[in-house]
Amino acid sequence: MIVDADSLVVDIGALVRPGEPRPGVRQRDLFLVERHVALAIKDGRVAVIGPESELRRAVSGARVISAGGRLVTPGLVDAHTHLLFAGQRAHEVALKARGATYLEILAAGGGILSTVRATREASDAELLAQTRNRLRTAVAHGTTRLEVKTGYDLTPAGELHQVALLEDLRREGPWRLTITFLGAHAVPEEYRGRAAEFLQELMRVHPKLVGHADFVDIFQEPGVFEREEARPYLEDARKRGLAIKLHVDELADGGGAALGAALGATSVDHLAHTGSAGVERLRESATVAVLLPGTSGYLNQGPHAPARSLLEAGVPVAVASDGNPGSSPTVALAPILPWAASWLHMEPEELWPAVTTVAGAALGHPESGRLERGDPADFLIWETDDYRVPCYQYGTSLVDETYIGGRLVAASGRPLF
Ligand code: NIG
Ligand code: FE
Repeated sequence: MIVDADSLVVDIGALVRPGEPRPGVRQRDLFLVERHVALAIKDGRVAVIGPESELRRAVSGARVISAGGRLVTPGLVDAHTHLLFAGQRAHEVALKARGATYLEILAAGGGILSTVRATREASDAELLAQTRNRLRTAVAHGTTRLEVKTGYDLTPAGELHQVALLEDLRREGPWRLTITFLGAHAVPEEYRGRAAEFLQELMRVHPKLVGHADFVDIFQEPGVFEREEARPYLEDARKRGLAIKLHVDELADGGGAALGAALGATSVDHLAHTGSAGVERLRESATVAVLLPGTSGYLNQGPHAPARSLLEAGVPVAVASDGNPGSSPTVALAPILPWAASWLHMEPEELWPAVTTVAGAALGHPESGRLERGDPADFLIWETDDYRVPCYQYGTSLVDETYIGGRLVAASGRPLF
């Protein structure tokens, strides 16, 4: 046997290789760990994964990458972030400590609206520089594909411009970037009490998103955008061929999960308050549930999403960071794994698909998070040989090396680009 490869990853202690979600297959059964295998790469893609002894003979002249007996996994896919913003909101720490809730801060013109002010004031260069730094850190901590939403301008033209800025960042790479238009992230101060009118204005830019944004999203939450306001907005996006996502049931059960399922959303996200009716509607749909335990944990004002009920109903469950300046101030997904295990009661065998293949499905990119022949060679080498340890040890990053398209892009927590 001769294998045409330019790189060969050897000395792999354990290779995690989750399968993509399929109806009728339990999430834990998507999990696969292999030992004594090597990974051959050609032109940035997986050429073959097979027994190490055979591949060492079959490949010649390739660059050899030693994993040093450690864990190798696909790159992490972060299916929900808001990393395009300026500034930070550290002043909210004390407000929250004194008992202010997320929606109270927002209603007082703070929260999302304070980041909107900072973002509108920032120049494009500043906004790009701050966002680029976050993406660099995310990659250094193991994220290889991520979704980034707009949503901190809240004018139709400004939100459209943010899509263009994200397209610039997508071209820059090395990250793989999915772009979501979240103009309907909050009701801007200029439209206070006129949410439906604001949505009408935003709808006018939907036709211009085609070919630029991958998804249209809305923060559908009682008190922000109501269910019956969200419906025509999302139907309009669908009519134009745009795929949709929804923020739902984050702070109360507003029936958003069922709405998303009925509209054929690619994913419904948050779901902290989703009840059994919502779970039932998701069971009957092809919609992915994206859970954000970092947010429910950080806000610490309510329940975590019903991950067990969703998994038992056979709903594919992804876990994402929700990286944003308010409810989940992080840029990385890896540090959330132990919290997902603890708070969502998910086992490592369920969590690995949740941050790789199921997350890829939530972004319409089945090849992201998967390591089959022809898939992009996006993978990580960890500071452990045990796939359970990243779901167990919290605080510091255990990702040692990040590879995107077969290229080493970060090592020891530092980007190399
Ligand atoms: O997913 N829910 C709305 N959006 C974000 C929070 C954004 C912010 O607070 O700046 C979320 O939690
Ligand atoms: Fe969010």
